[in-house]
Amino acid sequence: MRRAVCPGSFDPVTNGHLDIVRRAARLFDEVVVAVLVNESKQQLFSVDERISMLRAATDTLSLDNVTVTSFQGLLVDFCRDHSVVAIVKGLRVVTDFDAELQMAQMNQNLSGVETVFIPTSPEWSFLASSLVKEVARFGGDVSALVPSDVLDRLQRRLAE
Ligand code: PNS
Repeated sequence: MRRAVCPGSFDPVTNGHLDIVRRAARLFDEVVVAVLVNESKQQLFSVDERISMLRAATDTLSLDNVTVTSFQGLLVDFCRDHSVVAIVKGLRVVTDFDAELQMAQMNQNLSGVETVFIPTSPEWSFLASSLVKEVARFGGDVSALVPSDVLDRLQRRLAE
């Protein structure tokens, strides 16, 4: 049984995230999508809301070997506690690489856990949750960038 983790903030999940999760699910027996609980960062959606959106999206895609949970603290501790052998990250553009390489090397140094990089599909290489929120906030159309359930929740949240 080879279990991988796809960690992130997922505030909210985008089609770019789902592209990586779907492809990771083909490479590993089991994939855990782990939402970081980060009290120091202001998020648009609560951790429970983000988990609920991720579960709905992975159910829609029939990703049967994917589960969704949250984690606090160090990712390497989560990996140890859940017998995770690899951290999966998407790489969108070359500027992602510096920070991702540094984190991969730190995590490898801390615990020996490996990081697997999956190149984001070109159609999503510009996509980031932060941009989706900004565009949606100013009335732009993000319907092609997020699952429909996320779009509904985004519009409702931003209208509040
Ligand atoms: O979606 P994000 O916010 O870019 O995800 C970043 C995340 C959650 C993968 C990263 O911040 C992380 O792993 N945080 C957990 C704390 C930790 O282990 N820090 C050391 C990283 S080398």
